[in-house]
Amino acid sequence: MAMSVLGATMAGAEPPKGEPFGKTSRGEPVELYTLKNKGGLTAKIMTRGATLTELNVPDKNGDVADVVLGWDDVAGYESADNQYFGCTTGRVANRIAKGKFTVLNKEYQVPVNNAPNALHGGVERSLDKVVWKAEPFETHRGQGVKFTYTSPDGEEGYPGKLTMEVSYQLTGDNELRIEYIATSDRPTPVNLTNHSYFNLQGAGSPTVLDHEVTIHADKYTPTDDTLIPTGKIDPVEGTPLDFRSAHKIGERIEQLDKTAAIGYDHNFVLNGASGTLRKIARVKDPKSGRVLTVQTTEPGVQFYTGNFLKGQKAKGSKTYAHRSALCLETQHFPDSVNHPEFPTTILKAGDKYTHICVYGFSAE
Ligand code: BGC
Repeated sequence: MAMSVLGATMAGAEPPKGEPFGKTSRGEPVELYTLKNKGGLTAKIMTRGATLTELNVPDKNGDVADVVLGWDDVAGYESADNQYFGCTTGRVANRIAKGKFTVLNKEYQVPVNNAPNALHGGVERSLDKVVWKAEPFETHRGQGVKFTYTSPDGEEGYPGKLTMEVSYQLTGDNELRIEYIATSDRPTPVNLTNHSYFNLQGAGSPTVLDHEVTIHADKYTPTDDTLIPTGKIDPVEGTPLDFRSAHKIGERIEQLDKTAAIGYDHNFVLNGASGTLRKIARVKDPKSGRVLTVQTTEPGVQFYTGNFLKGQKAKGSKTYAHRSALCLETQHFPDSVNHPEFPTTILKAGDKYTHICVYGFSAE
């Protein structure tokens, strides 16, 4: 029986077992872990990229559907059509202007992979592409898997040896709880997130424009036309970004058609104290009745409506059309490393980075 990491393993309960899930093109074996709970939810997470590959959730009639985008195999995840589906993203999620930043008076250049900027941690060894070590566990809350990866000093151009843990747990309250911990031996920028794309009607359903969204944010960070924050923090009031009460995604999205984001792809400055786990968003699909709630300790969330999805054929031969999924990526603000006025993303040696994100599910 595998060891529990969060206290005693429950008597009689078996932590989940990993199954082989093929190999990466570098020949590394990949494993897939299945978590189950009494509410009929199933989550599958693979060791490549500590990636959520499936999340099966009942609707208001008890019919179960997989609500996250993904691929059937590792080759799919390695393909150019994979847009970070379900992965752990970093070391620095979202964009760094021109891939340049300075730490302790030293300038760093990380790869520019989303011209003219750096996006989501790099090209070959970003966190979505490496194989993490897995350790399953079970506590009173439910089944889980803890993934660990140590990124060597200089990997993808980032300073410091960064030691990370990401644990996923499926709780008895129908929540997928994701907890991150990181430490470094030198000051370095860190901004981790999970990049799941949700469609509450089931992955591959044609649109999310009918999903009703609430985001508890009075403000957001406007960007230039390469999606880098200008440094201003503006009110959402009077803009299509005002989700303080529920709005359908499709209601005002056309007002953003001609922007660089071609829809919603914005960082919201979340209300309430960061560092405190608080409810920050709710999404309801009126057709299936499925409801997603999001809680986090982070100061921001990137709300992205799959504007760059392009009809790729993925898991179960389903097609992922433009705006057929949404992401709510809990994180620090984009390009924080170049904005001293934003909450810092610099992790100092000896300090501990922590981040909790809870995706909760119900149906009504
Ligand atoms: C970004 C988008 C990007 C997507 C896929 C999101 O986090 O905000 O601009 O297209 O990730 O890479």
